[in-house]
Amino acid sequence: MAPASLCGVRPWLIAFVAALASWSLISLFYKSYEPRAILERLPAFSRFTAGTALPDSPDWNALFPTPDDDEFFVDSIDKWRDDNNRHMHTLMHCIASGTCGQNQTKIVILASWDFTFAIAGRLSGENIWANSIMDALDALGYTYFFAYNHHQLAERYRAFPDLVKVVLATSPLVHDCLRDPGCIKSPTNTLGVPLWKMFGFVFWEDSSMPHPLGKPWTLSPYNYTSGNTFLGYSVNRTCSLQPFIPHDKRNNQVFILAKKLSYFFSDRYEWPNIDYSQPPSSSKNVTFVAAVRNDTSASDQDRGYPDSPMLPKGIVALNDQPLPADEFFLAVASSKLLLGLGFPRLSPSPYDALCLGVPFLNPVRHYDKANPENRTAWITQHDGLKFQPEPYVYHVLKHPDLETRTQLFWDAIERAVSTPIERYMPEEMIPAAVTARVSAFVEADWRAAAAEVQAKTSIGFTL
Ligand SMILES: *[C@@H]1O[C@H](CO)[C@@H](O)[C@H](O)[C@H]1NC(C)=O
Ligand SMILES: *[C@@H]1O[C@H](CO)[C@@H](O)[C@H](O)[C@H]1NC(C)=O
Ligand SMILES: *[C@@H]1O[C@H](CO)[C@@H](O)[C@H](O)[C@H]1NC(C)=O
Ligand SMILES: *[C@@H]1O[C@H](CO)[C@@H](O)[C@H](O)[C@H]1NC(C)=O
Ligand SMILES: *[C@@H]1O[C@H](CO)[C@@H](O)[C@H](O)[C@H]1NC(C)=O
Ligand SMILES: *[C@@H]1O[C@H](CO)[C@@H](O)[C@H](O)[C@H]1NC(C)=O
Repeated sequence: MAPASLCGVRPWLIAFVAALASWSLISLFYKSYEPRAILERLPAFSRFTAGTALPDSPDWNALFPTPDDDEFFVDSIDKWRDDNNRHMHTLMHCIASGTCGQNQTKIVILASWDFTFAIAGRLSGENIWANSIMDALDALGYTYFFAYNHHQLAERYRAFPDLVKVVLATSPLVHDCLRDPGCIKSPTNTLGVPLWKMFGFVFWEDSSMPHPLGKPWTLSPYNYTSGNTFLGYSVNRTCSLQPFIPHDKRNNQVFILAKKLSYFFSDRYEWPNIDYSQPPSSSKNVTFVAAVRNDTSASDQDRGYPDSPMLPKGIVALNDQPLPADEFFLAVASSKLLLGLGFPRLSPSPYDALCLGVPFLNPVRHYDKANPENRTAWITQHDGLKFQPEPYVYHVLKHPDLETRTQLFWDAIERAVSTPIERYMPEEMIPAAVTARVSAFVEADWRAAAAEVQAKTSIGFTL
């Protein structure tokens, strides 16, 4: 940069930028856990704060430019970069002014697109889970940063290795880091990411790439009771924005949880025995509604679809596509039951329904014939809900006798549509419960736990 171009810049700004530039280098020298002390050891920072240099209100927005919130649009792929800047801005500001909150200098790195897609507005189960975890981190006042791959993780980490408490990552990214001597902590890379600080963020019970240190290093959205660390999530934030519709103001309808027409022709479809157009007299007035995309096109002909696949008779199509989020919530809230078809498994939608005061019918695909009420042995569409009782969740066993199975179905429909419930959230999925588990997770002594694993096994890694 030509000296002339610096003429108009105020000295405190230069000093501050110099301090900032040094920030990523200082971790080479310090052993302290006190962030302000670290900053104060820098010559540039002393100049910045000495005498009259600290301006009343530095132009933080000029230092960390971020677009106005209304400037970016949903699914902006760069939102996470702007959020990183915003979080760095807030962290630097509180350190420089000595106003950091209790947990603000404790850092969590989120190294999974589940998080970056979540803040861009996407709504998969993983994104809903990720959003809820970020809500909990916000509630506890931790600082978090996003990383998109293990190179970014390594770089972000070495800027403040002692401040980073945990890294939540996709399983492949954990292994990418492990394989890269420039990422993983080792005797020759002492500012690398220690294996024990990295956790797999995995929606399903079994990770395709298990964590070398064992099950506790895999985080789960549900209580799988298989040794994974259960964090869970809450749908409260989005759900509480939706109105609760009183039972007597609703349509006498059952909303079918399905996004694709092919679901009705799958061998996992639980209700081929049901004729929705011929309800028994007790359920005469009930209508079944669905909004699915026709995905049974030519390329799928070998899947055994009928000639012209249609929704089963008696189901009213609300749309020829899955509904957009807002309309989906409204349609569910206007219904008296959400009906599961057997899959998709473990979807967050039943929690949305319950939170809107709409019960869920959870098909039980497998049960112990000798002890049908032993729910531990059940395999259901949504095992996260299998211990929930009526009138919240209605379970229909896949009885071997077709007539009995049909009877059980219609009995459950009748009980569900005639029994109003209020908004409901299972205890372990209320925001406070998620926050408590996230707090326990971030604060746990994972280093000691890893040392124990190390002592018992021959896994080689640097603590
Ligand atoms: C998870 O489920 C097990 C078995 O049902 C139970 O003992 C445990 O308390 C649950 N954990 C949480 C955090 O709810
Ligand atoms: C759900 O969110 C709403 C709005 O933020 C809040 O008023 C309510 O207390 C929350 N419910 C629970 C159980 O936390
Ligand atoms: C069906 O609707 C009619 C008219 O609204 C009502 O009279 C009748 O009781 C309803 N039947 C049942 C089984 O709910
Ligand atoms: C779905 O697509 C198939 C193949 O194009 C067609 O035969 C069928 O009529 C369509 N069904 C509906 C409900 O649109
Ligand atoms: C219930 O099922 C579980 C899992 O199959 C089994 O371990 C347990 O012994 C069963 N309990 C009873 C009372 O049958
Ligand atoms: C800081 O974190 C601890 C542990 O997670 C938590 O108990 C505490 O409430 C948090 N403090 C604030 C101010 O949120």
